[in-house]
Amino acid sequence: MSSSIDPIILMKQEVGKAAAARVLSGSVVGLGTGSTMAYAIQFIGDRLQNGDLKNIKGIPTSFQSRVLAKEYGIPLVTLDEVDRIHVAIDGADEVDPHLNLIKGGGAAHTQEKIIDALADRFIVVVDSTKLVTDLGSTFLLPVEVLPMAISPVTKAITNLGGRPQLRMGVKKAGPVVTDQGNLVLDVKFDRIDNPGELEKTLNNIPGVLENGLFVDVADLVLVGEVIDGQPVVREITR
Ligand code: 5RP
Repeated sequence: MSSSIDPIILMKQEVGKAAAARVLSGSVVGLGTGSTMAYAIQFIGDRLQNGDLKNIKGIPTSFQSRVLAKEYGIPLVTLDEVDRIHVAIDGADEVDPHLNLIKGGGAAHTQEKIIDALADRFIVVVDSTKLVTDLGSTFLLPVEVLPMAISPVTKAITNLGGRPQLRMGVKKAGPVVTDQGNLVLDVKFDRIDNPGELEKTLNNIPGVLENGLFVDVADLVLVGEVIDGQPVVREITR
């Protein structure tokens, strides 16, 4: 039965379900962005509807996660209304062996980093294709930039050895515009030897709002895999 489903979708569903199962009643939950998170949000909503989970509050990290949370009946709050986020769940584009991440495939990494970093516990949900030995090997590094600073930031990143390209919209003429009204540069670095240092260096360029390196933030990575046609979820902890 399950073998007829695209294995990537199967992995995303299973890992989304596994993360949703870890949410406790009474908690404040950071709701990440992306296609894997869409399943996690759906399963959290299912648990609320069937009474297995009670009295949770979600904090969305994007327009997308806010819309999905509302669709699945998850009550939402803002950072102004809570003292604490008990757990955040979010996807990633790359995960290295130290549990450092590249995020921002959905251009939502600025709000995601705020929520994920504030959470007591940050759970990452990925399919096994996201595991890499070195960050930047399969995915360009997203950098959110204020529109008026796009030219100097592009030059500054080039001077650092990166090759930035402006992310363009799909079914929209012109560039991707983030939920904050900014632009995204996707940057190729030949090597990212020290992700923590590069994260700070990029964020120190005037006009950069945030980049997609998430260093020392993840506590647990749930990896969806398909073995002999069956989905399994593996845990990687720090
Ligand atoms: C959005 C993100 C996403 O979490 C990341 O792109 C993974 O998405 P998906 O689960 O669709 O592969 O960082 O900014």
